[in-house]
Amino acid sequence: MELNHIFTNNQRWSEKKNRADKDYFLKLSKGQHPKILYIGCSDSRVTAEEMMGMEPGEVFVHRNIANMVPNTDLNVMSVINYAVSYLKVQHVVVCGHYCCGGVKAAMEPADMGLLNPWLRNIRDVYRIHQDELNGITDEELRYKRLIELNVQEQCVNIIKTAVIQRAFKERSVRVYGWVFDIRSGRLIDLKIDFDRILNQIMEIYRIT
Ligand code: CO
Repeated sequence: MELNHIFTNNQRWSEKKNRADKDYFLKLSKGQHPKILYIGCSDSRVTAEEMMGMEPGEVFVHRNIANMVPNTDLNVMSVINYAVSYLKVQHVVVCGHYCCGGVKAAMEPADMGLLNPWLRNIRDVYRIHQDELNGITDEELRYKRLIELNVQEQCVNIIKTAVIQRAFKERSVRVYGWVFDIRSGRLIDLKIDFDRILNQIMEIYRIT
């Protein structure tokens, strides 16, 4: 079979883990206590655990096209609710990446069929930040900035949820916006100041 090598890889990997710790998988089977929720792009070049040097059990992961957090998407909302209220993660990360095909597609006028409503969320990010984005003449830099602003807006979408607002009140939890630079392999913390961004407007989103 074409995918035989995957099973060979898997056997080698599981044997290696067992050699290092004979109870490795037994411990994993007992349950998970990840401290991080990672929401990233489905892009095959942007691996979640591998680029962060994290092991199984350490990160709760959700990936979709262009690392989106649409308010009505039951999938990502279920992941956030479960990770924050049951797993009680302390860190919620939205990680975008430069060279994101989803963001690129949203910048170009084209009918993408089923993807239209999904990409429209990114077009709305452009609209919200049109003054800044239209002021960037270099197309590559504008594309990069939209990727960063998209991460920012998806983080804001997380902050709008009741589950994270409740968690903010009850315990220590933080939201982070990151970008992975495919060209260098480096992870960049955008250091987004949500208090400043939401300073004048948070009251309309407060639900707890
Ligand atoms: Co992408």
